[in-house]
Amino acid sequence: MPKGDTLTFNPAQVFNSYDPVPASGIERAAEIMRSGRMFRYSVGRDASEAALLERDIAAYVGVRYALGVSSCSSALLLSLVALGVEPGDKVLLPGFTFTAVPSAVVISRAVPVFVECTRDYRMDVDDFRRKITSDTKVLLLSHMRGHLSDMDAIVELCNKHGVAMVEDAAHALGERWRGKQAGSFGKTGCFSFQSNKIANGGEGGMLVTDEEELMAKAIVLSGAYEGNRRKHFISSPLLDTYGHQLPLHNVRMTNLTAAIVRPQIPLIAEKAKRYRKMYSYLERALTAGNRIAFPQGHPHEERIPDSIQFRIEGFTPDQMRAFIKKVNEAGVPIVAFGVGDDNARHFDNWKYVGERPNLPQTREALANACDMRLSSNLEEKHLAYLVEVIRDAVRQVGVQ
Ligand SMILES: Cc1ncc(COP(=O)(O)O)c(C=O)c1O
Repeated sequence: MPKGDTLTFNPAQVFNSYDPVPASGIERAAEIMRSGRMFRYSVGRDASEAALLERDIAAYVGVRYALGVSSCSSALLLSLVALGVEPGDKVLLPGFTFTAVPSAVVISRAVPVFVECTRDYRMDVDDFRRKITSDTKVLLLSHMRGHLSDMDAIVELCNKHGVAMVEDAAHALGERWRGKQAGSFGKTGCFSFQSNKIANGGEGGMLVTDEEELMAKAIVLSGAYEGNRRKHFISSPLLDTYGHQLPLHNVRMTNLTAAIVRPQIPLIAEKAKRYRKMYSYLERALTAGNRIAFPQGHPHEERIPDSIQFRIEGFTPDQMRAFIKKVNEAGVPIVAFGVGDDNARHFDNWKYVGERPNLPQTREALANACDMRLSSNLEEKHLAYLVEVIRDAVRQVGVQ
């Protein structure tokens, strides 16, 4: 294993770094703070960074409407409410996702029905087909870690069975399936600007849709009261209709968040290039001649690989723990989905969903799976170190 004292960089620092806010975003945020108008509705629509980001995102994703909110979790919850999900309704969702996703279902007092995932971290379409029943109202599809599921088959099944799809595209801003943006397939699409995502707003989210009625409902639900309902780039009589019919839950985006996210949207294409280069290097180097397996890409998917997932074939749980310990000691922040009782992405740890989900295939897929976010500024020397640390640890633990 490379010795820390011969390194010219601090691995823990490098691998945990975040993208800075572009200078124009910092300047705009400072200007907003000087004016005191951080509240999106304290200015008119054309001066509101939140409204302008909504307009930018709608154009970027290729949909009619977008609504800035406080997080992707808020966007998921508003989507379920706007779609009319009621207590006791069944919502299908993949068994491999982040805990915020089943949480949105449980908080809306609906019943989560989990669908198996594959070893490639995608929703298993055959299991989805099996689990659709006459009372399935909604599919909440997570593009977990940006791995897109078979959108052709899923859209067809949803249309055939009258299932409304909500896309959890938290990790998928800028990704495409057959050239169409993730988040634009469902009734709604939900994105995250939390710092681990491709556009770093600290926190923040966006709900997109092509449907006027869903957008009008979501705007009201998110906290637009009185004349504020008209401070968005949508004019619809439904805003006033729902303004008096729906409850409000304030999860609005601030102008500050929007100001720091806006200049990051045009940077996504360039970042995607860098990530794809990093990823192909890591995939090639790590899978060469040992027991590490990367997921199979799909020919229709254009992923932006800002994280890696890989399996270590044949390792026992003890070996997985030993592997994680070794790489963490070397400053490499890899986690294993199936190790310990605190991983927010393993269904065993979602005690609030009631009965433990019965997902043998997903359990097996996650058992030896590792996960690491990639910083966008990693250089060749950092990647070489990462490869060496992982390969060394696999070798050493493999002979124990
Ligand atoms: C797959 C997935 N969905 C939803 C979310 C929730 O996003 P937010 O933190 O913006 O609520 C996350 C957060 O990391 C996520 O990983």
